[in-house]
Amino acid sequence: MSDKSEERIVSGKPKEGDVVLDKSLRPKRLSEYIGQDKVKENVKIAIEATKGRKEALDHVLIYGPPGLGKTTLAHIIAAELGASIRITSGPAIERPGDLAAIISNLREGDILFIDEVHRLPRIVEEVLYPAMEDFALDIVIGKGPGAKSLRLHLPRFTLIGATTRYAMLSPPLRDRFGAIYRLDFYDRQAMEDIVQRSATILNVPTEDAGVKEIACRARGTPRVANRLLRRVRDYAQVKAKGVITKAVAVDALAKLEVDKIGLDQVDHRVLRTIIEKFDGGPVGLETIAASISEEADTIMDVYEPYLLQLGFLERTPRGRVATRLACEHLGLKYRNKQSPQGQLL
Ligand SMILES: Nc1ncnc2c1ncn2[C@@H]1O[C@H](COP(=O)(O)OP(=O)(O)O)[C@@H](O)[C@H]1O
Ligand SMILES: [Mg+2]
Repeated sequence: MSDKSEERIVSGKPKEGDVVLDKSLRPKRLSEYIGQDKVKENVKIAIEATKGRKEALDHVLIYGPPGLGKTTLAHIIAAELGASIRITSGPAIERPGDLAAIISNLREGDILFIDEVHRLPRIVEEVLYPAMEDFALDIVIGKGPGAKSLRLHLPRFTLIGATTRYAMLSPPLRDRFGAIYRLDFYDRQAMEDIVQRSATILNVPTEDAGVKEIACRARGTPRVANRLLRRVRDYAQVKAKGVITKAVAVDALAKLEVDKIGLDQVDHRVLRTIIEKFDGGPVGLETIAASISEEADTIMDVYEPYLLQLGFLERTPRGRVATRLACEHLGLKYRNKQSPQGQLL
């Protein structure tokens, strides 16, 4: 099955074409990082304290849905510390030897960024524990009865892990992070600031109402905002002398089938399936996935977080339930006779 979310204009996951844009629009310093005030404040304090003590920063875990700024924040932390950053990802480290090769090359104070850290193989994780805790690498040399274990000391480095799936991290790994930051969907004002900032960098003339229109359809996700901005910019260039006015934004976004609150056809199908085929739920994630030919993992990572945030969907022990709000948004009748907890009313 293909991962259709890759084709979605409103997917928080990076798509082809985002890479260059992501780089040019990515804030480089903490002061440019918009929103997430609580996280920013904590990061700032941790960085200042670390610099004062001239030590390596505690290991950091950043989690949240795709496109909210995890990778960006990792780079910013490195920049603020003046540290080098080495980038890899959970699935890229297949064997303990791969990890050993990477961490034995780190220098004092370096940052190792592991994206999708929940996808590290278990055998690799076990090598990571002593590396994180004692800055030591235990290597076994030889095989069978003659095998010897050797302990290699590592410089104090900082691991920054990023994940979209906090619950999938093993508890021992979770416990070894000194700081855990959760990124939330951005509020309206932050989204407007992000669209405006990106438009300025891209040199696109905008009117406030145009910026607002893009901001409120970008599902609280900066990556989506930047992607919508780029598409609206093209439309404006062809149809409206380049200026992003409200009318231009509304027209362009309607063509992309992104509705007023940022939902696209796939979100609509998820909700309609639950409401029309399963009486509003509860219905299992796998069943929904099969009904619309999507992968359950994709629904959980990409579609569901925003629908949950909007209060359109609820997770219950017996499955997903579409709420009255969802029905109202789609103009459908709310028929569910059950409370979200699954008890009959
Ligand atoms: N706080 C922010 N302020 C401004 N732009 C942001 C912010 N967070 C993310 N972005 C933009 O969104 C893009 C995607 O962010 P990224 O860090 O790659 O997300 P994640 O790693 O969580 O999927 C970045 O390239 C950047 O342009
Ligand atoms: Mg990322």
